[in-house]
Amino acid sequence: MEEFLEIRDLSKNYGIVRALKGVNFTIAKGEVHALLGENGAGKSTLIKIISGEEFPSGGSIRINGTAVREFNPAHAMAAGIAMVHQELAIFENMTVSDNIFPNSTFLNAGFINRRKTDKEAKRLVDLFGMNISPRQKMDSLTMGQQQIVEILRCVSAGKEIILLDEPTSGLNQEEVKKLIAIIRQLKDRGITVVYISHRIDEIKEISDRVTVLRDGTYVGTYDNNEALSQMDLIGRMVGRELSGTLYSARTDDGIAGKEVVLEARNFSKKNSVQDISFSLHKGEVLGFFGLEGSGTNTVSRMIYGLEAADSGQLFLKGKPVQKPGPDALVSRGIMYLNNNRKNAGLLLKSPAVDNLSIPRLQELSDGPFINRVKMTSHAEKYIGEFNIVIPSVYQQPRYLSGGNQQKLMFSICMSNNPEIVIINEPTRGIDVGAKGEIHKFILSLIKTGLSVIVFSSEMPELISLCDRVIVMSKNRISGEVSKGSGMTQEAIMANAAGSFGAAGPLGADGSSGGIK
Ligand SMILES: Nc1ncnc2c1ncn2[C@@H]1O[C@H](COP(=O)(O)OP(=O)(O)OP(=O)(O)O)[C@@H](O)[C@H]1O
Ligand SMILES: [Mg+2]
Repeated sequence: MEEFLEIRDLSKNYGIVRALKGVNFTIAKGEVHALLGENGAGKSTLIKIISGEEFPSGGSIRINGTAVREFNPAHAMAAGIAMVHQELAIFENMTVSDNIFPNSTFLNAGFINRRKTDKEAKRLVDLFGMNISPRQKMDSLTMGQQQIVEILRCVSAGKEIILLDEPTSGLNQEEVKKLIAIIRQLKDRGITVVYISHRIDEIKEISDRVTVLRDGTYVGTYDNNEALSQMDLIGRMVGRELSGTLYSARTDDGIAGKEVVLEARNFSKKNSVQDISFSLHKGEVLGFFGLEGSGTNTVSRMIYGLEAADSGQLFLKGKPVQKPGPDALVSRGIMYLNNNRKNAGLLLKSPAVDNLSIPRLQELSDGPFINRVKMTSHAEKYIGEFNIVIPSVYQQPRYLSGGNQQKLMFSICMSNNPEIVIINEPTRGIDVGAKGEIHKFILSLIKTGLSVIVFSSEMPELISLCDRVIVMSKNRISGEVSKGSGMTQEAIMANAAGSFGAAGPLGADGSSGGIK
């Protein structure tokens, strides 16, 4: 194998944080090389150094035998290196075309060949089967579509190496499949791809080799073949053997006889979801599943009043809520955890301790005075509980790794002692080890009377968390699956397929063909 990118003794310190500690490995020309590691292991830091966004504290990188002397983005771009960031980095007010080809806008000012850039942009969006125009503004796109535009920018700019940091975290199944097909095409053209993901099945499917990082150190590089199991990889990543399966279905008592805490009756909206009714019991985890376009995302926003309905009524403990909306609901102990990281609601430039304390300032103060000691111990408790990798409670969230930001959001939500939590994709971007911890945490909270509604695209996650899963298809509820032997991926999928019947969408490859 031709060594293309050589990483030697690479270190990176951020103040006292040692994000990378003497990492050594090589990436071959034209391979798909996956990076795997827990939240905060140093994956993003490593590829930011390759893309010239960060400067190493020690060590070196060689590309094609030549040592990289200057670490800056312009240099990396000239060397044909392009990167998709973990957090979306798009120009919201600009068009799709300008986002895919930002340089043509800037470099040839006054002389942009719009027709040519638009034509090429159209060709690229068509590759993904996206029904959008190159002249459309970015802020009119869904999150998944914005993510794809960023991937396309990278694909068009990366002549040598493409670095993808959790590219699939906002994509649906169909889009993931298309991305995988595009990566295969890139590989056929000899382009090297570095791929970061917490989805190990994806890594198994796409990569030639996998490098594991743990706590800033290099653990090893492994050929991706049949001998390499998902459990092996997870064990190497967390540094201990994990026994059993990651997900096990719930076997505890059912919800029979428990009080209904929230009820949605007949929520409908023209050209959108129709006749959505369900109830949530005290101590229940109620799941929602649907393929892309089934309406689950709209339902999650509608019941929280983030999106208006034409009709429908929400009841809390039997009483109608006149104007559902975030303010009214938060004050009644109902929290909503967003699936959009960018607007996640963290105060990125305020210390973590403030982020955790602000919602509960009254309790953490002595009369009119803020009690810093109480605030600190409150923050430390939750940071400990969620194993957030952070040097101190005074660190600002903008310096945390993506997964640790997600965990911080989760801990802020839980530190408010909510009665009901509505969570959209609870473990997106969270490593598999921490995923189990978050599941355990949710299940321990429901024993104290918390009720949870979970919207998730991961069926195993729903099966291990939920008492019941409501399945949607074509903007309606198409079925419900209850805890026990009947709660299987096949049963959920058959309902999600709606009128296509099990044979349609569950094709030979288990994919959701035919459903958009
Ligand atoms: N600009 C920064 N300032 C201070 N610390 C930082 C900065 N960027 C990253 N870190 C720290 O470096 C460590 C590695 O972070 P990195 O983002 O590389 O992790 P990661 O493996 O990508 O994790 P995740 O899976 O959560 O995205 C973390 O402890 C993080 O808090
Ligand atoms: Mg990262």
